[in-house]
Amino acid sequence: MGSAPTPFIDAERLSARIAEMGHQIRATYGPDETITAVAVLKGSIVFFADLLRSLPGPVTCDFLGLQSYEGTVSSGAVRITHDLRADIAGKHVLVVEDIVDTGLTLDYLHRTLGARNPASLRVATLLDKPSRRRVDVRVDWVGFTIEDRFVVGFGLDHDQMLRNLPYIGTLDDSP
Ligand code: IMP
Repeated sequence: MGSAPTPFIDAERLSARIAEMGHQIRATYGPDETITAVAVLKGSIVFFADLLRSLPGPVTCDFLGLQSYEGTVSSGAVRITHDLRADIAGKHVLVVEDIVDTGLTLDYLHRTLGARNPASLRVATLLDKPSRRRVDVRVDWVGFTIEDRFVVGFGLDHDQMLRNLPYIGTLDDSP
């Protein structure tokens, strides 16, 4: 592992923005609607845990493990490594993502989960890199829009490491 990541979005900004997102999301669904929050493993776990605590009202949680076939470059070839435990038919599903990069993962999720007939399917992502998009995907809530650089920490990894950083950082050798 090379030098320590350079701080990019600090813990304070992350927590303020996530608190705001929780309230915005609840306002969209209304106070009494049960939200089925789905964490996309592994990258979203830290964001998911914080977002849940910022989301008032009725919420259930489920977990979806996905793996893309390449390392840091998205190929679009995605497979489910851990499927949801519950049937989402008729549920209001909120997919919680770490980052939308090419959009290929989210496109796959929209198609796969959409086919299970949820009452609604919305997406909250902590980070968005729109300049990298290869497919047009709908994202309902974005924490931070960032330029094209490789980020780590707060759940995001580099070769499975650095997910435990309490902030978002960049690596010196990233573009
Ligand atoms: P996609 O290119 O939109 O399909 O993004 C797929 C996945 O690639 C994301 O959910 C992340 O796990 C990973 N990813 C994309 N950009 C980054 C990054 O800058 N740092 C760490 N992981 C990333």
